[in-house]
Amino acid sequence: MKDKKTIHLDFNNMMADTIGLEHGITEQELKTLAPVANRYVNDVKEERSRGKLPFLDLPYQKNITTEIINTANSLKGKFKNLVVVGIGGSALGNTAIHTALNHPFHNILTDRERKSFPRVFVLDNVDPDRFSGLLDIVKPEETLFNFITKSGTTVETMAQFLIITKRLRDRLGKDYKDHVITTTDSENGTLREITRREGFRSFVIPGGVGGRYSVLTPVGLFSAAMSGVDIVALLEGAAFMDKVCKSDNLWENPALMGAALYFLSHTKKGKNIVVMMPYSNALSGVADWFCQLWAESLGKKFTLNNEVVHTGSTPVKAVGVVDQHSQLQLYMEGPYDKIVTFLAIKRFSKEVSIVSGNDIESDLVYLKGHALNNVMNAEFEGTRLALTEQKHPNCTLTIDELSAFTLGQLFYLFELQTAYAGKFYNVNAFDQPGVEAGKINAFAMLGRKGFEQREREIDIQLQRAQKKYHI
Ligand code: PA5
Repeated sequence: MKDKKTIHLDFNNMMADTIGLEHGITEQELKTLAPVANRYVNDVKEERSRGKLPFLDLPYQKNITTEIINTANSLKGKFKNLVVVGIGGSALGNTAIHTALNHPFHNILTDRERKSFPRVFVLDNVDPDRFSGLLDIVKPEETLFNFITKSGTTVETMAQFLIITKRLRDRLGKDYKDHVITTTDSENGTLREITRREGFRSFVIPGGVGGRYSVLTPVGLFSAAMSGVDIVALLEGAAFMDKVCKSDNLWENPALMGAALYFLSHTKKGKNIVVMMPYSNALSGVADWFCQLWAESLGKKFTLNNEVVHTGSTPVKAVGVVDQHSQLQLYMEGPYDKIVTFLAIKRFSKEVSIVSGNDIESDLVYLKGHALNNVMNAEFEGTRLALTEQKHPNCTLTIDELSAFTLGQLFYLFELQTAYAGKFYNVNAFDQPGVEAGKINAFAMLGRKGFEQREREIDIQLQRAQKKYHI
């Protein structure tokens, strides 16, 4: 293993000792929860051993990793652009990896500067202007498209698939197939069917791994490898976190403690908003990815015993320091309905000194001798302290440095934390019936075969819809 450094979770500012009893959790509350938490760890272990939680074993998939690396190597230098087309769990992990580990302006570097790795774009939304805008700047002959959909039927992805493949065929004839690679279920779905028929290159999303838990499958790994990310280190980081989180002792297992803290502050202290606030632009994609993971996994109408609960806490992304000048006023003086999780990086890859000659304005002299790194750190520490002084619960996950290894740890930590949180809330953290309902309505409204009944119901509802109130 390249680097054994792990993530450090500091939750002092979540505790009543620091912020008082009204908003803080007591040690006794954690002690009371500990035996239950212990049981959940063992339940998860048992479910894992029965193959029920395959996302937990993803860090150990040697064959597929080799296949991805070999494919990426064989394609290196052949394409100027890689366009990932997918949505939700089939897109957010790609953006998170790319944003975290590649040059912040990767796509506007020259080919030489990118060392011939392609530019990476992720098309998720069906916004026609953004879609057309991207097609304006990527030439078909220079571009590889990776279509990703677990179900193989998602309307946004498949609509874009149809447009892009037609454009490729028109421009490149039968060679168009070399510009397509699909990532989908091994058996089911329209995209798998088309892949077989057309003979596209393809990766398989392992069965039983839901979209938002799939970043460490070919869903996230292929575009990562294509852009030069060390995916072996990414998986090693995840495997390392798996070991860190083996303990069934609440006080030793950061994923379990994270789930317990979020759960207790929600259910005992009324904090129904979870702010994920990296002090790093590079980690902003991880915050977006986390928001989907947390929201879709835990926002549920029913418990596992079929009781109606309408539970879940709302994840919100904020980026330090930018959101100090946007959201922070609300976090400081607004309602006591939030917890903030800071993501902090101890050592940025660059140290940028603030150039300061002798002619510096007297008002700016205080910056002399500092680096942007000190400014960032002072703003982070200052914000954390200010929130704590106002008794707003917050915790900090610190990584020594951002690398493929530490990013792999973060992914695994948050996925496991979410799975444990599903146990605490007693909900199914792996389905998404609410999302499916939206998909069904879209199919019906677009006239897909098999959805005629729903189309009629929607028509009736739209006709009856209240039209009284408008301006
Ligand atoms: O996490 C999930 O399951 C969802 O967010 C899906 O990833 C998203 O709906 C896209 O689905 P699919 O990958 O089937 O196109």
